[in-house]
Amino acid sequence: MRRSTVFEFLNNCSPVTGEKVRLRPRKTGDAAAEYKWRTDEELCLLDAAPPLEFTYFDFLDRYLVELEYPGLTHTLAIDTLDGRHIGNCSVFNFDFLAGHVEVGLMIGEKEYWGRGYGSDALKTLARYVFEISDIRLILLRTLDWNTRAQACFIKCGFTACGSMTKDNYHFIVMELKRNLKPA
Ligand SMILES: CC(C)(COP(=O)(O)OP(=O)(O)OC[C@H]1O[C@@H](n2cnc3c(N)ncnc32)[C@H](O)[C@@H]1OP(=O)(O)O)[C@@H](O)C(=O)NCCC(=O)NCCS
Repeated sequence: MRRSTVFEFLNNCSPVTGEKVRLRPRKTGDAAAEYKWRTDEELCLLDAAPPLEFTYFDFLDRYLVELEYPGLTHTLAIDTLDGRHIGNCSVFNFDFLAGHVEVGLMIGEKEYWGRGYGSDALKTLARYVFEISDIRLILLRTLDWNTRAQACFIKCGFTACGSMTKDNYHFIVMELKRNLKPA
């Protein structure tokens, strides 16, 4: 199991390019966009997360620490091919023994919804995770009423494999197996 390679990629990777997006490590200049997304009520609702309540300067402090010490959740910025930062995707909860990992995705710039950017980002991320590791299963969860997200994930080859409830939110759990690489 090439665990160190996985973490090295996620911490220091060169940009990974799909058909419509490029995934790259986050940088300080991304903080303002992320703050905007994480305080947007609609986005937070779709993401089952409460909007941030602290100021941008407090956010920036935490953000800079997170960039320096990424921990076990690895977040990559999603750029369009012409360089607009439109969202983020994350890889977390690696379970190397069981061979699975979770991913999350957000296109924060709403004018890019429904135009194929999310599915390209997820396919690109999933291909890369399978390429650099021997993870055999990628999992994600989405709110049961988030039909756009589900359509996006199904397009990428994910299938529903369960459900769960947390903090009164009801989620569908979806999986992509290694032998069914992203569509
Ligand atoms: C969910 C998200 C990542 C999907 O990315 P995206 O770029 O919008 O998705 P895509 O365009 O690749 O695919 C979406 C599909 O859903 C369809 N769709 C759009 N709106 C829809 C809706 N309200 N209900 C059902 N399907 C819908 C689109 O037509 C498209 O399918 P098609 O290509 O076959 O026509 C993005 O919309 C997003 O980040 N939204 C806000 C936050 C969020 O929902 N996060 C998900 C947390 S799990």
